[in-house]
Amino acid sequence: VAVDPFDLVVFGGTGDLAHRKLFPSLFRREHDGQISEPSRIIGVSRREMDAAHFRADVKKALETYVPEEELDKAIVKRFLARLDYVAVDATGDDGWEDLKAHIADGLDRVRAFYLATSPNLFDAITHGLSKHSLLTPKTRVVLEKPLGHDLASAQEINSAVADVLPESQIYRIDHYLGKETVQNLMALRFANVLFEPVWDSAHVRHVQITVAEKVGVEGRGGYYDHSGALRDMIQNHMLQLLCLVAMEPPSTMQADALRDEKLKVLRALKPIDETNVRTLTVRGQYRTGAIDGKSVPGYLDELEDGVTESATETFVALKAEVQTWRWAGVPFYLRTGKRLPSRVSEIVIQFREVPLSIFGSAGGFLAPNRLVIRLQPDEGVKLYLMIKDPGPGGMRFREVPLNLSFAETFKGPNPDAYERLLMDVIRGNQALFMRRDEVEAAWVWADPILEAWSRLGQKPASYTAGTWGPSAAVALIERDGATWHEDPS
Ligand code: BG6
Repeated sequence: VAVDPFDLVVFGGTGDLAHRKLFPSLFRREHDGQISEPSRIIGVSRREMDAAHFRADVKKALETYVPEEELDKAIVKRFLARLDYVAVDATGDDGWEDLKAHIADGLDRVRAFYLATSPNLFDAITHGLSKHSLLTPKTRVVLEKPLGHDLASAQEINSAVADVLPESQIYRIDHYLGKETVQNLMALRFANVLFEPVWDSAHVRHVQITVAEKVGVEGRGGYYDHSGALRDMIQNHMLQLLCLVAMEPPSTMQADALRDEKLKVLRALKPIDETNVRTLTVRGQYRTGAIDGKSVPGYLDELEDGVTESATETFVALKAEVQTWRWAGVPFYLRTGKRLPSRVSEIVIQFREVPLSIFGSAGGFLAPNRLVIRLQPDEGVKLYLMIKDPGPGGMRFREVPLNLSFAETFKGPNPDAYERLLMDVIRGNQALFMRRDEVEAAWVWADPILEAWSRLGQKPASYTAGTWGPSAAVALIERDGATWHEDPS
């Protein structure tokens, strides 16, 4: 269904995110007829450039990031015709009036400003929009991550933006919330009766969340070296996943009902600080190694010339706990890293053992049930069950997955997270965006970890690229008599 006509202004419109994700996602929505005719998309950056040049750059980006078979010539032409470009000096006065002239008049038209820039421009841009009377009741401002570097800087950004806009017009992106399987986690829990009764400490032994990447820092070393895996992945994406697993059922899917429940989880996270950081967290940094048989450089070699030392972590494993009646005592093991052997993101719910094996020793070990929600690649859900081995040999058991592969069940392309989220902005649905208090609660938990690492001088342990991180990450979970899930197939 087509969304209402809109004007979308992308600050940082010549940047990497815009080229890699935003324009390809908008193009796909154009392709599916979701963008109605008078809608316009305006790229903004500091650089002087005419619209023709900008369109040519976006065309190149589409050719790079959208599969060739999807690039229907007529649709590309229609999409490019929607694009315009304005140079604006975000911190000065130049260009704003020009931008205003490019945006349709009228209060009833949706206006979205997507801030795909460094967060230190969020204050200047939102104030510029206000000063130049570009904010209307139907305006939505989208903030890309990172939303700050710690609690204080996140609060500073949030307060600056709140000066000129109410919370109901602010959309803080966490693109993980737009991923199909992440939304399916909510479907699994709340559209079925099977799981909720066993979704608690009486039945779940532990939860694992892994987001593993094969890539290194890919030219983003300048940003990454000041960030590290805890800030880059755990404080946002992985905590959001944890929230969706751990939250109580919201009473509706209305944005605030959902966000209230996530907030309660964040506030119930057991603090990790100097007293327990050594036993509950593992930091790592990759050194030269090989992935898929090809040698890859170490982290330090990927940083800018001249940087020879860094205490930034490219891997984190940690044991979190949600201190609520439902979850007390259940470990939530989180693990993420760059240059790991495979790209895999998954959530594993490890259930407890049956209270008693009635089959005696002949039946063999009864592996406890395990629900694996695979976010990427090969999106799907597997429920590992114990099944009797076929044949007359008696009651012998084998662990077999009930396997729901999305690719096999639902033919057709899997939309990118940004496609869903961009259209939600236009529709005015904030459910999959983070509210101010959520972001800040996540920093309240993350800050003491960062401080403890720094005060205790806990340097990242080195791991070979192409391995599953430092051995301490394995020890972290094995100490509790568990193991990281490995898909046997
Ligand atoms: C981004 C991080 O938010 O998420 C990157 O800044 C990371 O470092 C990326 O690579 C992972 O996203 P996805 O969708 O590829 O899993």
